[in-house]
Amino acid sequence: MSSNTLPAASLGPTDAAAAERAGQLREQLHHHAHRYYVLDDPELPDAAYDEMFAQLQALEAAHPDLQVSDSPTRRVGGAPLAQFASVRHAVPMLSIRTETDTEASGAHAFDARVRRELGLQPDDAAVQYVAELKFDGLAINLRYENGSLVQAATRGDGEMGEDVTQNIRTIGQIPLRLQAQQPPPVLEVRGEVYMRRDDFEALNERQRLKIAQGARGEKTFVNPRNAAAGAVRQLDPAIAAQRPLSFFAYGLGQVVLAPGEAAPSSHEGWLRLLKGWGLPVADQTRLAVGADELVDFHRQIGQQRDALPFDIDGVVYKVNSLALQQQLGFVTREPRWAVAHKYPAQEQLTEVLAIDVQVGRTGKLTPVAKLAPVFVGGVTVTHATLHNEDEARRKDVRLGDTVIVRRAGDVIPEVVAVLPERRKEGEPFVMPARCPVCGSAAVREVGEADHRCSGGLFCPAQRKQAILHYAQRRAVEIEGLGDKLVEQMVDAGLIRHLPDLYRLGLSALLGLERMAEKSAGNLLAAIEQSKTTTLARFVYGLGIRHVGEATAKELARHFGQLDDLMSASEDQLMQVSDIGPVVAASLRTFFDQAHNREVVEQLRALGVHWPEMQAASRSGLALSGKTLVITGTLPSLSRDQAKELIESAGGKVAGSVSQKTDYLVAGAEAGSKLLKAQTLGVTVLDEPQLLGLIHGTT
Ligand code: IVH
Repeated sequence: MSSNTLPAASLGPTDAAAAERAGQLREQLHHHAHRYYVLDDPELPDAAYDEMFAQLQALEAAHPDLQVSDSPTRRVGGAPLAQFASVRHAVPMLSIRTETDTEASGAHAFDARVRRELGLQPDDAAVQYVAELKFDGLAINLRYENGSLVQAATRGDGEMGEDVTQNIRTIGQIPLRLQAQQPPPVLEVRGEVYMRRDDFEALNERQRLKIAQGARGEKTFVNPRNAAAGAVRQLDPAIAAQRPLSFFAYGLGQVVLAPGEAAPSSHEGWLRLLKGWGLPVADQTRLAVGADELVDFHRQIGQQRDALPFDIDGVVYKVNSLALQQQLGFVTREPRWAVAHKYPAQEQLTEVLAIDVQVGRTGKLTPVAKLAPVFVGGVTVTHATLHNEDEARRKDVRLGDTVIVRRAGDVIPEVVAVLPERRKEGEPFVMPARCPVCGSAAVREVGEADHRCSGGLFCPAQRKQAILHYAQRRAVEIEGLGDKLVEQMVDAGLIRHLPDLYRLGLSALLGLERMAEKSAGNLLAAIEQSKTTTLARFVYGLGIRHVGEATAKELARHFGQLDDLMSASEDQLMQVSDIGPVVAASLRTFFDQAHNREVVEQLRALGVHWPEMQAASRSGLALSGKTLVITGTLPSLSRDQAKELIESAGGKVAGSVSQKTDYLVAGAEAGSKLLKAQTLGVTVLDEPQLLGLIHGTT
């Protein structure tokens, strides 16, 4: 048993029992924390752990003399520090040589150097290495004395670091006590504190929320490494405890063994021992024999890199034999027996040359930062999307700014952050009030993140989309006019706006690729045929935002005439069933654009027509203003027939029963809806009663 169990003899009788119980609880809590944090394989439900934890806390509160520094209860807490104490490392924390050649040759160069230094001949056996990940975090030295964590320090300048023990204690993956029968008197474990990507995203999400709620002094973090470093160097351990950190062990500092105790003779042996004592060692760690296996490792990890749950910036190769490590020794402050072999950086600095606004096929306006070309994540990046106005403002990217650009894997490049200290003078970004392509108003609807060009079918950026939409089967329908053809016609300048469709001649079409006389003739005939349509199809075909097929039908039925629809106010539009403020506003914006009205006029002038009807008088019908719900199987009508009948009588059919339901039409095997209607006191009709109501016979 480890040193922190007090000898019972020095305590009174009840205290002896308490001491024993506290010891047991600590043992169990250490064990379960390891299962939970390191092995990801808990044996206990969280509540049971919490219960044991609370028992130990209570015991320690009642018997302050039972408190020990490596108790699980000491992970959190402690008062904020004014500053960190300095720590002299017993063994300096050295850095490692970096192989900047990111190609396979980097591994060969290292192996060749090692062999040369060891005086090996070409036909001598291959050198054995341990290949590890190069974690992108913060190096930490953990000092265990007789198995208990007594101190954790940052690397600092390699000689002197900072004492961050109370923050490091909050990391669940770091054992407060080694799981060893006979722990060495002194064991310093070196490794990397890091933050997982998902933990980082969640942390930033919480930070954004705090900022949105007006919290002062809060900020979001640029990347997991900065977030991890910030947490470790946090003077208030309560705050550090809220930052989700993780740890991997990869090496040793000072080691003092008990007399006669045997120790591993290889790096790999030590890693296995550390793992057995409860320290997390990365699963990807491998033995590699000779340069070729190092190259394989570098390539394999490179392929997995983006799928790892944490950031790495390379791999590390270490000579496995400790005897050979000693023989190789150090040059200046770097060991000759280890090297870091990098991958191409996924983040780089560059300058914002402009912020352009692009208009997509659907009219969405997207601010895009034009960047001084920079090589990042293996490609040259010249642009990065800023997504929308809020994103651009949140990151506060300005013309001339120096920014961090990130590109990982196949993910599109993004601006991660601005370096404010390098800002020249740029103004905050504002979304232009007009579409940069066609000059129509740029509209941002309530609750939406995106601005959109209201130019619709007039806007050249949306031209192809607008024509395809108009020509589709459910709209005005021009048979045979598909996306390839529209693409060609627009690119060849045959069509600029929708009305140009009706101005096409045979000779123009014959100029297109793979367009024979017969197909050109067919297309012209289809275009001619499309001139005879319905108001609903025409309105739908205009591609007005939020106006789908059903809404277009409803509008056509309500107004009967296009001119009445075009001149209706938002209030009048909202009287149409199912039309709310968003759709009404969208219709108004569309018809308020002079060029949209112009397009409509031209189409009519070119012969597009439909039977104009009397506006439906919806008020005098049998079910006007009534909402009905249908349930169960009706004796003669299908669901659709019943629905149609109700709608033609001016009623509305809803999917579920509520206070607003006027009638429930119930057939055989009506279930929960019938029950609900009865509870709410809604009138229930059978099919004959419904028909009677519609035909005015009841
Ligand atoms: S070994 C004497 N192994 O990279 C060898 N370092 O300069 C000491 N790092 O800041 C380092 N992953 O924090 C080693 N698997 C790994 C590592 C690793 C990340 C960091 C370390 C240090 C830098 C090396």
